[in-house]
Amino acid sequence: MQKAIVIGSNGYLGRHLADYLQQHNYAAALYDLQEKSLLPDQPYARLDISNAADFNQLDAAIDYIFFMAGLTGTGAGFDRHEDFVRVNETGLLNLLQWMRKTGCRARIIYPSTRLIYKGVKDYALKESDVKETKTIYALNKLAAENLLWMYHNAFDLNYTIFRICVPYGNVFGGGFSYGTVGFFISQAQQQGAITIFGDGSIRRTFTHVSDIAAAMVASIQLSETENEIYNIGGENLSLRQAAQLVADKFGVQIKLVDWPKLALRLESDDTVFDDSKLRNAIGYNYRHNLAGWLKSWE
Ligand SMILES: NC(=O)c1ccc[n+]([C@@H]2O[C@H](COP(=O)([O-])OP(=O)(O)OC[C@H]3O[C@@H](n4cnc5c(N)ncnc54)[C@H](O)[C@@H]3O)[C@@H](O)[C@H]2O)c1
Repeated sequence: MQKAIVIGSNGYLGRHLADYLQQHNYAAALYDLQEKSLLPDQPYARLDISNAADFNQLDAAIDYIFFMAGLTGTGAGFDRHEDFVRVNETGLLNLLQWMRKTGCRARIIYPSTRLIYKGVKDYALKESDVKETKTIYALNKLAAENLLWMYHNAFDLNYTIFRICVPYGNVFGGGFSYGTVGFFISQAQQQGAITIFGDGSIRRTFTHVSDIAAAMVASIQLSETENEIYNIGGENLSLRQAAQLVADKFGVQIKLVDWPKLALRLESDDTVFDDSKLRNAIGYNYRHNLAGWLKSWE
């Protein structure tokens, strides 16, 4: 049985990955900053990635490290820049240094984001397309991608990076991710209307969290996915289309409002993913779409 650990296992992506790994016969040990695990059936310990000494509790005899811990947020990084750099960059460096020191040869699975790309209208972004980081968080993620490559180049540590656009869905637990869909749902539930900035024509790739977990786990079986970067695909929708699906589900209206000044400056144009590199590598077919998930969700 292959051994995996999930760091950040109480988070939205981390807990879905931990659950998926358990269901697919990986022995997965879980770690997070929080005292208690949300998944009581799997071994768990507290680990603060920003404290280098905390990594000494890990056993180096592991195959995969799912590095799902971090701080996320658009504007928040400008107010908490020290925390964002300490957790998102130094946290990863602490892991890489521990691997160097211990000779751990696990593959690191790292979740990156659409926010490192320069958005382009009516165009599907490839992994090599132009980068533009408009927030501290986006810069943290691009720095982390570069750190992974740097430690591979210098010390033969291995990784696979997955860029995620807009995740949605929850197999268990109450969270819907920080992303767009969770925001629409909470607005519909709490305010009885969904607000969209601008005309809602900006497009994104929406991916169900189960498809994210399945695509990640399928691709790590293959040696050719080592030290590669992949866009994870899904369903391409405008924000207006996604909001309409949620509005129909809850029977609420959509309100279009002007962009707040800072939000407009931080937003990108369309960020739709070309995922042909991943599909060619693993032959994955996405199983979910937003309409189907909303229909199934009570
Ligand atoms: N959700 C998205 O839309 C999205 C998209 C692309 C990439 N990502 C990336 O995926 C990762 C997980 O995102 P998420 O949405 O699950 O976030 P989340 O906030 O739900 O989960 C993050 C987890 O990290 C843990 N954590 C925070 N600081 C820590 C520390 N110092 N040590 C150990 N654990 C710590 C938190 O307790 C939490 O359980 C992040 O790195 C994020 O950048 C998320």
